[in-house]
This record gives sequence, structure tokens and C-alpha cells, in this order.
Amino acid sequence: MDDTILVEKSFEIIKGNKKEFINKFYYNLFDMAPEVKQLFKNTDEVKQGEKLYNALLLLVENIKDSELLEDVLSSLGKDHVSYGAQLAHYPVVGECLIITFKSILKEKWNQETEKAWLNTYNTVIKLMTKNI
Ligand code: HEM
Repeated sequence: MDDTILVEKSFEIIKGNKKEFINKFYYNLFDMAPEVKQLFKNTDEVKQGEKLYNALLLLVENIKDSELLEDVLSSLGKDHVSYGAQLAHYPVVGECLIITFKSILKEKWNQETEKAWLNTYNTVIKLMTKNI
């Protein structure tokens, strides 16, 4: 199946479990990479969770619109420099997304879907880190 379809289909299930996704994502992230917790010390976790979710939603809904994604993600990437995010943090955030998706999708998650998200996330990293 096409990566786009796999990403869209799997995210449909995340949409129905938004709160669980947000809570688990940050719980997993701080467990996997405790050193990034300090970057979020002044952050309202609920609002931040919403922002992350909305960014993923925008990504999934515009996955074929490379021009829009390039604009939005390169600008988001620049903002992340001021948040203290480093290149080395991107892989662990991707791994955390996958682990969190997997724990929510359970038997609906498979290797093909994982590959589709890995490909998508690699594109996201490229666009977010392009001009920094
Ligand atoms: C798929 C990759 C990522 C996406 C989609 C994403 C999304 C976002 C969004 C939408 C915001 C809010 C921006 C705003 O308020 O205008 C944000 C803030 C932030 N992100 Fe990310 N992010 C990603 C990767 C990372 C990585 C790798 C780090 C490094 C640990 C990181 C750390 C932060 C921090 C510290 C903030 C600021 C929180 C605050 O406002 O206090 N993000 N992110």
C-alpha cells in the first residue's frame, strides 16, 4: 500500500485517541530522553500537546502538498532552534512517535505502516532542518 494511505489510515485511529496519544507521547519522550525535559520546563503541557497534535494533523492532511509542507516545516524547524532543539534530538522524537502510535494502534500496527511513518518522518526532519 502507498505510504500516504498507510499514514492517513493509521492517523485516523490516533484522531479518535487524541488525549491518550498526547499523554503517552510526552511520557514516552521524557522516559526515552530525560535530557530534553529541561527544554519544556516553562511549557504548558496540555497546550503543547495540542500544538504537536495539530502539526501532525496538518502534515497528514497535506502530505501530498510538498510546497506547503516545505514552507510550514522549514519555518517550524527555525523556531525549534530557539526552543533549544538540536539535530541529535530529532531521531529520538521520531522513535517516540512510532512507539506511541504502536501502543495505541496495537494489532492494527504493522511493519508496512512503520516504514511509511519512518519515510514520512525522514522527510519532516529534512524539511525542519533544511535552513538551520
Ligand atoms: C516531528 C517533529 C516535530 C514537530 C511536528 C514539532 C512540533 C512542535 C510545535 C507545533 C510546537 C509549537 C510551536 C509554537 O508554539 O508555535 C513545538 C514546540 C516545541 N518543540 Fe517541537 N516538534 C518536533 C520536534 C521537536 C524536537 C526534535 C524537539 C527537541 C526536543 C522539540 C522540542 C520542542 C520545544 C522545546 C518546543 C517549545 C515548547 C514551548 O513553547 O515551551 N520538538 N514543537
